[in-house]
Amino acid sequence: MNKLLLYNCSQIVTPKGSHIKKGKEMDEIEVLQNASIYMEQGTIVFLGPNEEVLQRLGADSLAQIPGDIPVIDGAGRAALPGFVDSHTHFIFGGYREVEFMERLSGVSYLDIMRKGGGIQSTVNATRSYGEDQLAADGRNRLNDMLSQGVTTVEGKSGYGLDLECEQKQLRAMKRLNETHPIEIVSTYLGAHAVPLEYKDDPAGYVRYMADVVMPRIKEENLAEFCDVFCEEEAFDIEQSRSLLTKAKHMGFELKIHADEIYNLEGGALAAELGAASADHLLMISEQSIQALAESETVATVLPCTAFCLNKPFAPAKKMIESGCGIALATDFNPGSCFTNSIPLMLSLAVLKMGMTLPQAITALTINGACALKRGDKIGTLEAGKQGDVVLLDYPDYRFLIYHTAKNIVHTVIKNGQLVYKKEES
Ligand code: NIG
Ligand code: FE
Repeated sequence: MNKLLLYNCSQIVTPKGSHIKKGKEMDEIEVLQNASIYMEQGTIVFLGPNEEVLQRLGADSLAQIPGDIPVIDGAGRAALPGFVDSHTHFIFGGYREVEFMERLSGVSYLDIMRKGGGIQSTVNATRSYGEDQLAADGRNRLNDMLSQGVTTVEGKSGYGLDLECEQKQLRAMKRLNETHPIEIVSTYLGAHAVPLEYKDDPAGYVRYMADVVMPRIKEENLAEFCDVFCEEEAFDIEQSRSLLTKAKHMGFELKIHADEIYNLEGGALAAELGAASADHLLMISEQSIQALAESETVATVLPCTAFCLNKPFAPAKKMIESGCGIALATDFNPGSCFTNSIPLMLSLAVLKMGMTLPQAITALTINGACALKRGDKIGTLEAGKQGDVVLLDYPDYRFLIYHTAKNIVHTVIKNGQLVYKKEES
């Protein structure tokens, strides 16, 4: 039987429970000192102060632990739940460094898109890639995420747009999910942009997705979620409502790229449809904040995107004060946000968006898990949850922000197994 004892962590730091943490609840994290976690078959069996855990294992000291239980030494290290990056676009072909420089010289993201660049340029590149290449690049990106403590990641299609290339992206993710330690949750994002071949018939493209692509994706079980980029130059609120309603009837869970560049009340639409999350929300209105606060929909903020686009951050502090449940994710993609940096994201959330560190931890763990409908399995360190644990270089979780924008992840345990350990220099 697969067993593991994580012994003598200087701290175990975790939110508690399986549901979305809203408003003030986001500050409630438990900090246990000198504590251990015992896992079997990938699941946490019990955790608590060292002596209690030893006792439950029938031992008075570490030396008496049965030989068939491997031990990881947690001395001098704080332990947290594995991080959940609940919004990424990590499977793509090509890069857009030229466009990044154009943006620096003042051209807007939507203007680049209007000229046929932006998402369409990554679509062109992704269509020319084979599934093997997409998977190989994806694997390297996952390795980098793992080294930053990410144990569950969401990945979107949306750089193929036609059936064949969307399938190719999603199949690459499926393969990676079967072979890489990080769990990958897949999202169909055909409604990312209107492809060139439907340039003069956006309504036709919406019909094509609903009638042709989505049923196939569902049939082949290639995606659990369906997402829409609800934005000017992409899909308006009615197209988004109609597509997501159909997706819901087909059995997809829902997400929306909402109120990123213009406010279209995508946040309120997410609440209305019972979406798992509304994401971006830089331009969110009072009305959408209220709608999200009254719903079970996670409000996912993506500070690295605002940072890379040089835009104001989503009003996370205000949303929390209004009672929303916030998740933090990277939005890693080759256009608006070519960074998957968890440390940068945490620094921006706390130093620039006014979130407290406990709120940021909640946002990156249990609320991220809820944004992926996995709050009952991951996102906290508690008996019965999956054994997904991150150990830091330091004894105190506050180093996560104090050691600003620095990756201080030392060890990662996924499903009760050691999957990453920092190389000692
Ligand atoms: O979440 N906003 C739309 N989609 C992505 C960007 C995709 C791209 O620029 O390639 C985002 O920011
Ligand atoms: Fe995105």
